[in-house]
This record gives sequence, C-alpha cells and structure tokens, in this order.
Amino acid sequence: MGEVTRRVVDDALERGSCDFVADIAARVPLYVICRMMGVPSSDWDHLFKLTSQAFGAGDPLTQRFAHLDIMGYFEELQAAKAANPSDDLVSILATAVVDGVPLSPEDIILNCDNLLVGGTENTRIAAAGGMLAFLEHPDQWAALAKEPDLLPSAVEEVLRWTSTATHIMRTAVRPIEIHGPRIEAGDCVTFWLPSANRDESVFTDPDQFDIRRKPNRHLALGFGEHFCLGSVLARAELRLLYHELLHRSIRIELDGTPTRLTSIVVNGPEYLPVRLTAAAA
Ligand code: HEM
Repeated sequence: MGEVTRRVVDDALERGSCDFVADIAARVPLYVICRMMGVPSSDWDHLFKLTSQAFGAGDPLTQRFAHLDIMGYFEELQAAKAANPSDDLVSILATAVVDGVPLSPEDIILNCDNLLVGGTENTRIAAAGGMLAFLEHPDQWAALAKEPDLLPSAVEEVLRWTSTATHIMRTAVRPIEIHGPRIEAGDCVTFWLPSANRDESVFTDPDQFDIRRKPNRHLALGFGEHFCLGSVLARAELRLLYHELLHRSIRIELDGTPTRLTSIVVNGPEYLPVRLTAAAA
C-alpha cells in the first residue's frame, strides 16, 4: 500500500498541477483494492477509467456500458482465477465453498463489483475532503507535520468532518419514541451521518476541525452489525496518503475553485485543483 501511495504521489508531483480527487485520492484506494483482488497492474488504469465512467457524473448510457464492462472484466478474471488460483481475494471467492456449495459466477462478480465500489468511492471522497479541510485549516496541517503521532486522531477527525456516506437506512423492529417523534415497527428510518457527526450534545465545538479531538465517537463508518467492513483499510489508506505528503514536505496549494458532488448518497469534493511542489533538496 505504501508503494502504491508513493507511486501515485510521484506521478502527481511530476504533473505539478492536478485534480487531487481524480489524480490522487481516487487512485490510491482503486490501485490498492485492485492489488488485493489480484487484478494485474497492467489493468489498473483500465479499471480506473471504467470506474470513473461508471460512477462519475455523465451520460447514463456511458455509465451503464462502463458498469457492464466492469462486470465482464470480473467474469473473465474469476474464471482465470478459478482455473489457476493464487494469493488474492478473487481467487478466494472463485474457489470458495459455502455450506458445501461453490459460489456462483454471479455471486463472485457481484462481490467483486461491490468491493471495487465500496473499496474506492468513500475513501476517495474522504481523502479529498480531508485535504480540502487541511487547505482551509493550514494550522492543522502544520500541527500534523510537526507532530506525526497525531495522524491516527487526525484521520478520525477527517472521517467525522467529511462524513462522506450521507445516510444509512434501517427498518424499525419495535415501536420507539426518540426526542418526541414516534417510530412504529416496520417504519423505514434514515440516519443522517453528517448530522450525527455534528451533534452538539456529543461533540464539543462540532463545527471546528480539530485533529486533536478526543474522544471522537463519530459514526462516519456506520455502527452495529453493518459497521464498515473496510474500516481498517480505509483508515490505513488515509494515514498512508497524508503521511506520504507530510513526510516528504510536499507543498500543496489550491489551484482553482473546488466543486462539490451533487448527490444524496455521498458528500464531498468532486474536483479539487491543487498545485504540488516538492520540498527543496
Ligand atoms: C472513508 C471510507 C469509507 C466510509 C466513510 C465508509 C462508510 C460506510 C458506512 C457508513 C457503512 C455502513 C452502511 C450501513 O450501515 O448500512 C459501510 C459499510 C460497508 N463498507 Fe464502508 N466505508 C468506507 C470504506 C470502505 C472500504 C475501503 C470498503 C471495502 C474495501 C468498504 C466496504 C464496506 C462494506 C462491504 C460495507 C457493508 C457492511 C455490512 O453491511 O455488513 N467500505 N461503510
């Protein structure tokens, strides 16, 4: 993961001006998950293009075709891994037996698709949203550069602050009253995570971006039985990315006007133009 992160940052540095979302934040989680799944590195950029088309803004027909191409890609990969398994996630899925029955190709392909989307989308937006927060709060970036031990708590604050997954939904199993309104059994309930993460009865100065915040009981990665399966991976990727930028003392400045995603599902920057400059030798 460190090697992948270094490579992505090197490429962005070489370019000088780039879009932090597409050129850095999107590539780290995508390349990492590709590597974990056993996608050959020669295909990473192909999958990067397809996922950008499938899940980015744009023509719905292009999105659908790109999605079908992703499914087609994993159909071939899972067949190849079933015939010749190695040490990766797709091989594990392709050879898995559950209750005596092997997973169907459809199960495997849908799992791959889910891993690719789940493994990339929120981490990309959180990494970019966190960078934007640091650009808007340079004192916090300077404090992190001075005290790298703050990185784990800074990542928690980035997760709370960005709250990239806007909501999760559940069906109530019993009636309950919460702060007045009554919810009946069978009602659909929506939890708005950015709102929970700014709850003034839980967080002191919730609208302050504070990398030293402790405790930081945010719900950005969900809670309970469906707590994010990729939480360890996401946290590691965010730590590695900021560490890479900080320990090489790379100077990062805004290089244009960022735009935000228009979505009810995810929340954060869509475009974050930056200029990267290597530290003087
Ligand atoms: C900053 C990055 C991430 C954020 C903010 C995030 C957020 C969330 C949230 C809020 C949930 C709970 C959904 C619910 O309760 O209905 C969730 C579940 C999940 N996440 Fe993440 N996620 C991130 C990264 C990842 C990564 C890297 C992966 C996979 C590699 C992943 C895979 C999953 C899966 C499979 C679930 C479903 C777990 C279940 O239903 O039991 N996520 N995530």
